[in-house]
Amino acid sequence: MLIQQKTQLLNFVFVIIPRKTIQFDSQHLFLSKVTESCIFQKKELNLRAFSIRREIKHQTIIIYMKSMTKSPLQIARASYQPKLPAALRGNVVLKEGAATESIADQADIKKLFPNTYGMPIITFEAGEKKVNPVIGVGVILSGGQAPGGHNVISGIFDGLKTLNPNNKLYGFLGGPSGLVEHQYIELTEEVVKEYRNTGGFDIIGSGRTKLEEEAQYEDGAEICKKLGINAVVVIGGDDSNTNACVLAEYYLQKKTGIQVIGCPKTIDGDLKNEMIETSFGFDTACKVYSELIGNIQRDANSAKKYWHFIRLMGRSASHITLECALQSQPNICIVSEEVEANNMTLNGVVDDIVKVIVNRAKHELNFGTILIPEGLIEFIPAMKTLIAELNDLLAHNDDFVALITDEEKRQYVKGMLSPVSSDIYRSLPKGIAKQLTMDRDPHGNVQVSLIETEKLLIEMVAKRLAQLKAEGKYKGKFSAINHFFGYEGRCAIPSNFDADYTYSLGYTASILISEGKTGYMSSVRNLTAPAAEWIAGGVPITTMMNMEKRHGAMKPVIQKALVRLDGAPFQFFKAVREDWADDKTSYIYPGPIQYYGPTEVCDQPTRTLMLEQGKIK
Ligand code: FBP
Repeated sequence: MLIQQKTQLLNFVFVIIPRKTIQFDSQHLFLSKVTESCIFQKKELNLRAFSIRREIKHQTIIIYMKSMTKSPLQIARASYQPKLPAALRGNVVLKEGAATESIADQADIKKLFPNTYGMPIITFEAGEKKVNPVIGVGVILSGGQAPGGHNVISGIFDGLKTLNPNNKLYGFLGGPSGLVEHQYIELTEEVVKEYRNTGGFDIIGSGRTKLEEEAQYEDGAEICKKLGINAVVVIGGDDSNTNACVLAEYYLQKKTGIQVIGCPKTIDGDLKNEMIETSFGFDTACKVYSELIGNIQRDANSAKKYWHFIRLMGRSASHITLECALQSQPNICIVSEEVEANNMTLNGVVDDIVKVIVNRAKHELNFGTILIPEGLIEFIPAMKTLIAELNDLLAHNDDFVALITDEEKRQYVKGMLSPVSSDIYRSLPKGIAKQLTMDRDPHGNVQVSLIETEKLLIEMVAKRLAQLKAEGKYKGKFSAINHFFGYEGRCAIPSNFDADYTYSLGYTASILISEGKTGYMSSVRNLTAPAAEWIAGGVPITTMMNMEKRHGAMKPVIQKALVRLDGAPFQFFKAVREDWADDKTSYIYPGPIQYYGPTEVCDQPTRTLMLEQGKIK
C-alpha cells in the first residue's frame, strides 16, 4: 500500500509516503499522482484538499486538510474584505517616537531586558515603494480562543505576500509547544482562504504552554533556522506577550537574528493601554454574551418568575461584565474592582443583592438578572489574601500533591494557612474551597473559570432571604437559575469590528517584521473612527511591564488592565444602575451580531471604547 502511516493533528492529516514512489516534476504532476494513488484513502479520511508537502529523509509527508461543511454565513463571510487603515493600503514608511519606559519597576525591567527596553513607539505612514527581501515568518496562537485570530493570520499572510510574493508563513501547531516541538505547517493561500473571517483558532490550534526555559528557546531557534524563519508572531494575552518579550530579548542577546512580535488577543479586554486601545475578541464575545443576556431578560420579563444569576468570563478584570451591562442594562451588575475598592466581604455583596430583590418583590417583581464577573472571588479582600497564601503554599508543593483524598488535602491546607485565612477557608462550601486549591494554569493564575461563584451567591442569597421571610421583612418568591457564559463567545464569527481590527493587527505585524523590529506589539489605534483613519504601528512590550509575584517568585509581567473606577464606562454605569435595579424595566435586548446591513447596526465598537474615547456621554 502506498500510504505508510497516517497521523491526525488538528485539522490536518499527515500521510507519510516513501519518497521514491513519487516523481516531483511540478506541483501539478505531484498532485495528480498522489490524488490518483490515494483515492481510496482520501475517501476513507473524508479529506478535502491537498495543501502542503514536506520531505524528511526518504519520506514525504503530505498534509491534507480535513473536510469542513460550511454554513451559508461562513460561505458569505469568506468573501468579506476586511478594512485596513489608509496608511497600510499602499507603501509604508516608519516613524519613530521618543524613547519609552516601563509602566513601573523601571530599574528591574531595564536590567532584565537590556536590549528591548526603552525602544521608541512606532507609527506607519504612507511612503515610497521599496524592495523587500524574502522573509519567512512563524505564527503561534496562544492561550484562550478569541474571535478574529484567523484574521490576524490572514492579515499577516496578505501583508507578507504584498511585501514580497515569495515570503513564507508557517503556523506552529497547538500553541507555543508547536515551536518547541517542531510541529508546524506551511500556511499557503489554499489553507488561509478556508479560515478568512471565521471564528476559532482551529487553523493551527492554540495552547497554554509557558515558554520559560532556555532549552525551549533554543529548540525554537533551531526550527526557525531550519525553515528560514526570520520572525515569530505570538498572538496572545498578557502572559503570552510577556513570553514573547522574553523570547525577543533572548534571541537578541544570542544574536540569532530571529525577531519576535506580539499581537494583543483576549476576550477579557484586560490587555490594554494608551497604545493598545482594546484586545481583539472582546468586541465579538461581549456582543454574543449581551445577546444571550438580552434573551434571558426578555424571558424573565415574560415569565416573571426567575432570578437569573449570570457569571461571565473575563478572568480577574470585570471588563466583559461591565460591557455586557452597558449593552443589556440588567438589574444588578457586580464589578469586582469596586468590591475590592470598598473593601467588601462576601456577605456585603450578598446584602446588596438581597436589597434589590426585596425591593422588587415589594412591587411583585420576583424576577431579574444579575451579572457576576468570574474573577469576583479574587477581589474580595479577605479572599484575595487567602488565594495569595494558597498560591505561595501550593507552588511546587510535593507534599500537597502526594496527598490522595480531598479530605487529606483540606486538612493539610487548613493547618498551613494563617489563622484568618484558615477561618475563611473553613467557612467556604467544600466545593468552592476545593476549587481554590486546584491546579493553577501554567502562568500561575487561579483558574477562576472553574469557580462557580454564581451558585455560591444563589445559596447565600436564598439563606438570607429565608431569614428575612421568617422575620416578616420579605414576602416575595425566590427561584434562581444559574448561568455561566464564556466558551459560547470565544469562537464566534468575528464582528465586522473584530474582523477589520484583527486583519489590521496582522498586516501591521508583517510590516514591523519587514522593518526588522523585535520585542514590539502590533498596535492599531483610533478605533472609534472609521477604519481608514486607524493608526497602525508598534509599541515596545517592555512599556507594559511591571514586577509581580508568580508561583511564589517576583517576575516581569505585562500589567493587567483592570476596570478603572474613575474611567468613563464605570462612571456611566454608576450613574444609572439604580434605575436599572428598581421597579421599572430598563432591559435592552441587543439581538445577535449583524454582519450585513446599516453601519449603526453592524459596525459599532463596544460601549466601553465609545465611552473611553468620549464618543458617547
Ligand atoms: P486568555 O487570557 O488566554 O485570553 O484566556 C481567556 C479566558 O477565556 C478567560 O476569560 C478564562 O478564565 C480562561 O480563558 C479559561 O481558560 P481555559 O480556556 O483554559 O478554560
